[in-house]
Amino acid sequence: MRLNRFLSECGVTSRRKADNLIKAGRVTVNGEVVCTLGSVIDESADAVALDGKPLRKETKRYLMLNKPPFYLTSLKSLEDGKKTITSFLGDIEQRVYPVGRLDYDSEGLLLLTNDGELANRIHHPRYKVVKTYFAQVSGDVPENLETVLQDGADIEKRFVIPDSVNVLRVSERRARVSISFHEGQKHLVKKYFEVFGLRVTRLKRISCGNISLGKLEKGAWRDLSPAELKGLRRITGLFPCDQ
Ligand code: URA
Repeated sequence: MRLNRFLSECGVTSRRKADNLIKAGRVTVNGEVVCTLGSVIDESADAVALDGKPLRKETKRYLMLNKPPFYLTSLKSLEDGKKTITSFLGDIEQRVYPVGRLDYDSEGLLLLTNDGELANRIHHPRYKVVKTYFAQVSGDVPENLETVLQDGADIEKRFVIPDSVNVLRVSERRARVSISFHEGQKHLVKKYFEVFGLRVTRLKRISCGNISLGKLEKGAWRDLSPAELKGLRRITGLFPCDQ
């Protein structure tokens, strides 16, 4: 098996990013640094380590969590006093990582997995996995809000157009909108509304590709069903050719 694939199957990262780790000299095979891309290992006999830590393949795990607001999308507490999503993930045997992030004050659907390749594909705009958000906004709501939002805007030098916009409720100073993007910039939804003079006061991700949050309770998680996983693999080009 190729070394980059082995790294990705250990949940370290995607295959493409694994190449960067290899080039950086952070990976050893039987104690020797291997910097050559395309290197092949015998996974039953070779001992592979990253930054000196031995790696082994884990059973793949795919979960969804309904993240409540005011929890960090992080496995380690980076900011003093802030709780993290680990509070909800107590008894999961595998080391699963969040796929993308939700802001501290955002809530809703968060996928977690130790499958680096799939995680990368869900997150990367190239695979066009559409994420849908429910947003409550306040400010001077423009007339024809739906049409205005559909036009797109420059966000950090990149022109972004939502995949869909539905205004659910609107008044002069507030609106409730469902909006979808396949881009993944940090704070994208908040920045997008900011362009139109609107401040997001509540933000909830309700779906990601074929996966919907449904009625999962706040703070609860569950494994994805085989059908959900198959759908995700299909829309990210991993099914059926690369099992
Ligand atoms: N866009 C945001 O602005 N925040 C999130 O948490 C997710 C998308």
